[in-house]
Amino acid sequence: MASTIKNISILLFFIGLISQAYCKPCSLEDLSVKQSETGIKIQGKPEWSVTVTNNCECGQSQVILNCRGYKTVEPVDPNILTYSGTDYCLINYGKPINKQPVSFKYAWDQAFSMTPNSSKIAC
Ligand SMILES: *[C@@H]1O[C@H](CO)[C@@H](O)[C@H](O)[C@H]1NC(C)=O
Repeated sequence: MASTIKNISILLFFIGLISQAYCKPCSLEDLSVKQSETGIKIQGKPEWSVTVTNNCECGQSQVILNCRGYKTVEPVDPNILTYSGTDYCLINYGKPINKQPVSFKYAWDQAFSMTPNSSKIAC
């Protein structure tokens, strides 16, 4: 009798683990930022293409990247990227990034490191 209860609780424990694995909550790590050189020069500076992808089932809004020192000679639509003037870039004007990746291009002598800093996850 006691061993049956033990077996059931072990079973429940594993069911719990499995269901956790299937509906794992999203995190900042589900945002990926890919950057590549397009090969085009704008005012003599290389152009960089950036794609922000949300690999989570839930949308993520208020996505902010670390983009310290960001500069560009190629205008970027502020609805896609707004630079704070210090360390941060707001993506999509705070609107959610869903399955559809967000891309933009900028041009400067070197690529700036861009990594996710924060977001609001809507699960
Ligand atoms: C977000 O930015 C702040 C201030 O620059 C920094 O202290 C923090 O480590 C950043 N967080 C991440 C996840 O990059």
